[in-house]
Amino acid sequence: MPAEVLRWQDLENTARQFFHIHNYKEIRTPYFEETELFARSMGQTSEVVQKQMLTLNSQKEEESASHYSLRPEGTAAVLRSYIENHMHRHENLSKLFYVGPMFRGERPQKGRLRQFHQMGVEAIGPQSSSPYLDAEVIAMSVHLLKAFGLNHFTLRINTLGDDSDRTNFARFLRDQLGDRMNTFEPALQKSFKDNIFRVLDSKDPQAKKAVKGLGLNHSYLSKESADYFAKLKATLKEMNVEFEEDFGLVRGLDYYTHTVFEISDPSLGSQDALGAGGRYNNLAGQLGGGGDIEAIGFALGLERILLSLGENKSVASSPLSYYIIALEENFFGKAFMLLNALRHEGIAADIGYKSASVKSQMRTANKANPNFVVLIGEEEIVKNQVTVKNMKTGEQTSIALEEFERFALENR
Ligand code: HAM
Repeated sequence: MPAEVLRWQDLENTARQFFHIHNYKEIRTPYFEETELFARSMGQTSEVVQKQMLTLNSQKEEESASHYSLRPEGTAAVLRSYIENHMHRHENLSKLFYVGPMFRGERPQKGRLRQFHQMGVEAIGPQSSSPYLDAEVIAMSVHLLKAFGLNHFTLRINTLGDDSDRTNFARFLRDQLGDRMNTFEPALQKSFKDNIFRVLDSKDPQAKKAVKGLGLNHSYLSKESADYFAKLKATLKEMNVEFEEDFGLVRGLDYYTHTVFEISDPSLGSQDALGAGGRYNNLAGQLGGGGDIEAIGFALGLERILLSLGENKSVASSPLSYYIIALEENFFGKAFMLLNALRHEGIAADIGYKSASVKSQMRTANKANPNFVVLIGEEEIVKNQVTVKNMKTGEQTSIALEEFERFALENR
């Protein structure tokens, strides 16, 4: 609704300004893509691909019904576009941002919608990994939330390391959890083979208990990965970005390598993630781009930000300068031309389209909340003037018609 849109615009304006300061450029990708793109990037075992894809049903027989899906997130599409447009040939590092709707077929509840909106960034480039870039992206997500006026959230970070670190981590989990796996819910038992990391963010009570007892640490990391993460943490500390280290944070999407992070506001209840992100160094290679193209990004959920802000932050709409009232039907033509002249000068103006009593027209005018009301009646027509009422002071003056445009330009 229009009053809510003002709050959305306020967030979007803040974000656009913020992204500009950090030299991120806007990218707009289509709202739907080939289903395959999402399946390959987010992973067949991810909940989004398994249960939440909204796939289009084409009427054309030659097009397989499951060929296209509404985008459940932005990262895969941005990377697809990066590769398709050979962006790596034009710049070493592409810093991109997006704002727009995403779609997931989840059961709606507070903070969880089937169409929701994300604003996100992706920093992509050949051999672009740097703990400083990771720190920049993580700090941006935190500072942007602060710029929106939020303060009560926590940032958790972790690293998954590279491919071989991940394999070590998975082996460790299989060894530790193997004999308890049959106590977990069936879907989770299946992921034991396919993707053991699902156990770490599962809501299954048995799994939660087992994970708690694991005493997770970073022993599976190579020295190189551990050093990278240490440098990132030191940089975040230097930037005064507060964080918690969470060894169990793996994220629900498969494309992540090394740094992962999540920001949550516990007061939001079960859907408490305001945003999340991480590094994905293998995805470009998997999607047919250069294997050396590395990337990191995050996405924030707009609806959750608004929930977290609560109702207290209202935003004023831009005021309407003039509201014109024709006191009789046959003066409407003149009033309408005056309205057009004002708008032509870039002055926000409107008119009462129905002839009604002055009292009822004034009531409508009051609702429009203009700075001035202009009355055109018998006397005004005869004397070639208008009556202007200042709605703040209540003061009423007569102004010659040829003077009015100048008056309006000076008094909006
Ligand atoms: P994600 O964790 O799936 O990550 O989503 C990011 C944020 O989008 C969530 O933290 C939440 O605020 C919001 N969100 C997700 N699903 C819903 C929903 N059904 N209703 C309302 N809000 C929702 C990603 O999407 C990754 N692409 C983030 C990323 C960017 N990683 C690297 N670059």
